[in-house]
Amino acid sequence: MNATDRYAVIGNPVAHSLSPRIHALFAAQCGQSLSYEKLLAPLNDFSGLVRRFQAEGGKGANVTLPFKLEALALCDQLSERAQRAGAVNTLSLDADGRIHGDNTDGIGLLRDLQHNHGIMLAGLRVLLLGAGGATRGALKPLLDANPAAITIANRTPAKAQELASLFTRNITVDACAYAELAGKTFDVIINSTSAGLSGETPPLPDEVLRNGGLAYDMLYGPAPTAFLTWAAQHGAAVTADGLGMLVEQAAESFLIWRGMRPDTLPVLKSLRA
Ligand code: ATR
Repeated sequence: MNATDRYAVIGNPVAHSLSPRIHALFAAQCGQSLSYEKLLAPLNDFSGLVRRFQAEGGKGANVTLPFKLEALALCDQLSERAQRAGAVNTLSLDADGRIHGDNTDGIGLLRDLQHNHGIMLAGLRVLLLGAGGATRGALKPLLDANPAAITIANRTPAKAQELASLFTRNITVDACAYAELAGKTFDVIINSTSAGLSGETPPLPDEVLRNGGLAYDMLYGPAPTAFLTWAAQHGAAVTADGLGMLVEQAAESFLIWRGMRPDTLPVLKSLRA
């Protein structure tokens, strides 16, 4: 263990990031001496900032918007998860200049659903809203949980179709526009769109969530998101925001870097308090 081991979250913007707080809590819990800072990367020089951080001895970094694709391109080696997700959120920086990339977002979502909310997806009909990077990263871990079927709905249906075509296996993955959801019902709806950032929710038919179903929003904030408010008014028995996913993906990154997985529950409690 090296007292000077440095880690960071790199994004633009990054000021709002909770990652330094989460990793400080993990480090204290696991008796690890490390630092974790926020680094604002210029929009046109993400790679330069990573290289400088690595040259200064940085050991690893989480990557957030809008750099997850650039992070993928920068890596010398990629985990299977990162390749499948087509994006990297966790960099491991070797002293010899090599960079390894992984993606812990999808497994973070699964762990939050299963361990924190006790939701087993086996046999359930899942609807994914959005077809950006967050959906792509979530698809493989969601399929591994054996749902009955997954439907991807997106404002731009062609993007949903493209994602659905990446996965051919015995579980059906289909794609559609929001209007085509009329008459269909799902047990679980997971929102990965950024519509909530402007207080909006995708245009969903009233009956699309089964009465007593689960609504999950990858976004989080002090107040319920627009999608979770909609879901509560449309029969959801459980509504969950993305704070748990954030903490779980951080725990998976911590495991990659430090070889131990922190207990996430006390950290989640502390953040909610
Ligand atoms: P991320 O990498 O976080 O998934 P992204 O790749 O920019 O971000 O994807 C954002 C997603 O939110 C997309 O599915 C986008 O729909 P389009 O593919 O049609 O652009 C969706 N989205 C953003 N704003 C939206 C809105 N107001 N209503 C519905 N969907 C929206």
